[in-house]
Amino acid sequence: MDITFLLNGETVALTGVSPTTTLLDWLREDRGLTGTKEGCNEGDCGACTVMVTDADGIRALNACILFLPQLHGKALRTVEGVGTADDGLHPVQQAMIDHHGSQCGFCTPGFVMSMVAAHACGATDHDTRLAGNLCRCTGYAPIIRAARAAEPAPVPGWVDRDRSFLLPEISRGEGAARGAEPPCHGALPRSADDLAEIYAAHPDATLVAGATDVGLWVTKQLHDLDPVIFLGGCDDLKRIDITADRVRFGAMVDMNRMGAALAGLHPSYAEMIRRYASVQVRHAATVGGNIANGSPIGDNPPALIALGASLHLRRGDARRDLPLEDYFLDYGKQDRQPGEFVEAVSFPRQPDRLKCYKLSKRFDQDISAVCGCFCIAVEDGTVREARIAFGGMAGIPKRATAVEAALRGRPWGADTIAAALPAFGADFTPLSDMRASAAYRLDGARAMLERYFAEDRGETTNVLEVGS
Ligand SMILES: Cc1cc2nc3c(=O)[nH]c(=O)nc-3n(C[C@H](O)[C@H](O)[C@H](O)COP(=O)(O)OP(=O)(O)OC[C@H]3O[C@@H](n4cnc5c(N)ncnc54)[C@H](O)[C@@H]3O)c2cc1C
Ligand code: FES
Ligand code: FES
Repeated sequence: MDITFLLNGETVALTGVSPTTTLLDWLREDRGLTGTKEGCNEGDCGACTVMVTDADGIRALNACILFLPQLHGKALRTVEGVGTADDGLHPVQQAMIDHHGSQCGFCTPGFVMSMVAAHACGATDHDTRLAGNLCRCTGYAPIIRAARAAEPAPVPGWVDRDRSFLLPEISRGEGAARGAEPPCHGALPRSADDLAEIYAAHPDATLVAGATDVGLWVTKQLHDLDPVIFLGGCDDLKRIDITADRVRFGAMVDMNRMGAALAGLHPSYAEMIRRYASVQVRHAATVGGNIANGSPIGDNPPALIALGASLHLRRGDARRDLPLEDYFLDYGKQDRQPGEFVEAVSFPRQPDRLKCYKLSKRFDQDISAVCGCFCIAVEDGTVREARIAFGGMAGIPKRATAVEAALRGRPWGADTIAAALPAFGADFTPLSDMRASAAYRLDGARAMLERYFAEDRGETTNVLEVGS
């Protein structure tokens, strides 16, 4: 593939790039830019964090699970490019020195890049911004102090110069690096129409959205993917449409944008997204990828199913819609035909009754053991409707239909809740695995219904406090 991007202020044009070369490997092995570190090589530690600027804004991303073609037309900064000979160190670099934010220094370039990106955006929610960066020896207090100290410093001039980088062919909407004709190793369609045409012609291709799953197929499972279609240039798939009747997310809406859009509609859902992986992963991971992969532990499907969402699929010019829960047929099996892709997901506008509860071993940056989402409508003291869906309780994201039936039409009270708890055993036979035992999962799911009832009654619950 032929791609062009800006690296630390200089244009880089590459030809014949293998589509699944990771940015981290290219930086370290081809460019000798070894400041960007390799820790886990799977998006978990943040040692490889870089900053990417494009029309969507400024993002911290993990270079280890970012393929080179995903950078086409964007401006990239690595730790080597944030301080300059003229201006000296970047303010966060100086603050890390002043506040003793580094000991062995292995994590330091990644922390610096997360802090540089946050500083460029004026962000001060440092705990959240740094949740995807692991430090084993310094500890977080000096690092957070450094981030705070750098807040008032002016943003360096290169941030604006990176923002103004826009390839002329991208602004004209042309299919740079499209590569639709065989042999097609990699394609970068620039619209959903373009994607539909290329994918229908190459139904065996692997679609790459944010690559937070696919990246690991390459770095951990050593899969050789060919051909590959990158969805990142399809701007029409990044649309968020909120009307009086419906809320619709294009497949390429990333988790950070989705969380921001949901904050005013369904705050519990937005809060769950804040606990979805890390800022770096949320900047890449898309709602389309989170649904299409069919994972039983993806966080979006249970919330969307509880909201009554529909999935919008497309193959060529043919489109079809289905209730989201019907998309998940069995473990590893989804209702999607060759050449068909997720175009969008939507759900009806509704009063906010949604509560999302994520049970995981760590509060931040962890995949759910159980994710329970509840939408229960009560009228005149009686349960009129209940939509309850879980991840982590079966081989697919699944509705708790027996629990729903045990609630529907009953008085909204402690007796009804207690009577509904055994129905979890009818709905689910969860597995034991490294995240949780089957018994813990069932107990956790039941406790979530009790928590929903308690919160509805005005009792406050706090998962960050341990009490006895
Ligand atoms: C460190 C880390 C932490 C994570 N934490 C969480 C977490 O807390 N919660 C959670 O739910 N997930 C988590 N994940 C998993 C991951 O982020 C999600 O599954 C993600 O949403 C996948 O989206 P993506 O855009 O990166 O998809 P990709 O990796 O690009 O693709 C995933 C799959 O979907 C297919 N695909 C992508 N887009 C489409 C489309 N539009 N139509 C059809 N097929 C498509 C791809 O071909 C591939 O099979 C984590 C991952 C990492 C690496
Ligand atoms: S090396 Fe750990 S997140 Fe990339
Ligand atoms: S300074 Fe050693 S891991 Fe952070």
